[in-house]
Amino acid sequence: MRERVVVLDFGGQYNQLIARRVREAGVYSELIPHDAPIERIKGDSISAIIMTGGPDSAYEEGAKACDNDVFSLGVPVLGICYGMQYIAKVFGGAIASAPIREYGHTQIRFTDHPLFAGLGGVVWMNHNDSVTRAPEGFAAIASTDACPVAAFADDKRKVYGIQFHAEVTHTQNGQKLFENFLNSVCHLRCDYSAANLKDELIASIRAQVGDKRIIGALSGGVDSSVASVLVHEAVGDQMTCIFVDHGLLRENEAEQVMQVYHDTLSLNIIKVDARERFLSKLAGITEPERKRKIIGEEFIRVFEEESKKLGGAEFLLQGTIYPDVIESGTSSASTIKSHHNVGGLPKDIGFTGLVEPLRMLFKDEVRALGESLGIPHELVWRQPFPGPGLAIRVLGDVTEDKLAILRRSDAIFREEVKTAGLDRAIWQYFTVFTGMRTVGVMGDQRTYDYIIGVRAVTSTDAMTVEWAEIPYPVLRRISERIIGEVPHVNRVVYDITSKPPGTIEWE
Ligand code: XMP
Repeated sequence: MRERVVVLDFGGQYNQLIARRVREAGVYSELIPHDAPIERIKGDSISAIIMTGGPDSAYEEGAKACDNDVFSLGVPVLGICYGMQYIAKVFGGAIASAPIREYGHTQIRFTDHPLFAGLGGVVWMNHNDSVTRAPEGFAAIASTDACPVAAFADDKRKVYGIQFHAEVTHTQNGQKLFENFLNSVCHLRCDYSAANLKDELIASIRAQVGDKRIIGALSGGVDSSVASVLVHEAVGDQMTCIFVDHGLLRENEAEQVMQVYHDTLSLNIIKVDARERFLSKLAGITEPERKRKIIGEEFIRVFEEESKKLGGAEFLLQGTIYPDVIESGTSSASTIKSHHNVGGLPKDIGFTGLVEPLRMLFKDEVRALGESLGIPHELVWRQPFPGPGLAIRVLGDVTEDKLAILRRSDAIFREEVKTAGLDRAIWQYFTVFTGMRTVGVMGDQRTYDYIIGVRAVTSTDAMTVEWAEIPYPVLRRISERIIGEVPHVNRVVYDITSKPPGTIEWE
């Protein structure tokens, strides 16, 4: 029986992280809304429940709740932050608004409870309320100066609560807490790993697709590549992949992508040259959202036409991954930018079924799976590249001349980052064509030419990012090379904006 931990989502910001930590500790986990029916929570098998943090006050009316039958399923329960307070409420403890709000790194004193073996003395706190009295049958097992019950345990019923966020890296050895919970408290095998899912996923694709035909859109990105290789292993040449060159790709990218897919991975792939088509649709368009919409719509049109030419297919392959599934289930976040992956094709374009082999996997798991499928390292560890491509890195209207300048400067920047050995440490790095011109002097001559922006960020999930501290000598070399080698550029600026308040892309 597969071990499965349900992470009950009470709306906190680190919820996906908790599900990932559990998987990293070797147990398959699912993030499920707090108010899901008990049948869904139970699923085919259930080994433990973790209740997440959240913005509510447990004692206020309308505070988020779950079906309390979860406490009678006979599996251990761990509550984190709000999850702990919720447990305290259900079992009759006391919760109050804390006199001192604890936020950030906090010194903690642990008892010798097995839950804490190997943890450090500093944890990450982020709360207004706290448990002031543990419920009957629960022992306080940790405290801080401001919080006398920073964790509690009922070892008989196997119900636990921690006030701090063990899932974030600021908690010293926080990952140990999940390992301890799953090993020492739940006694699980902890043998899950995405890399081992290969055979299972291939078998289920075979069962779904049978002898029918399937079409996939390949973007050159990690998700669509891993998904395509899986399907290819499962049903071979029943799959045809379409790669749309929209003319908004990086230097030599279309050729490289085709070479890897065709020669190295032996995929049945067709390249569609739609460069002119996209550029003419984009002519004169300056508004970022408009550009995104045009590219998204045009992509679908090209894809539709090409799949018709192929005589159609029953199935459409999508590279959807777990964060997409989770996020489409919660619609409260406001739209900052309309993202459209090539993986985000609408379902009503003439296919009877969708194949989404990666829909339960996190990005790092997709990468691990990709490695285990023998996909080249460079492809598996490729930096993210947006669906609308360079169009959202040319501010203002997009022309081939501007794209040419952007492509060259971007290629130089990427070369230098790689040479400096920084390519794995930086999440994403690229240049931006700002469209602004400034006065300069080159070889005793006045110049009036373009500014190129350089953007490099570190992150773990693109939700929040820090600008990367690229060493000055590397920045100097990048600037010298771009100005020296790219015609019509006379100034380079480095973007030192984190996210929030900025976003990664400039449009
Ligand atoms: P932002 O700019 O919103 O970007 O901080 C977050 C991440 O998403 C990528 N991005 C996109 N990816 N289609 C995509 O597939 C899009 O329309 C899109 N827009 C942004 C961006 O490169 C970064 O990794």
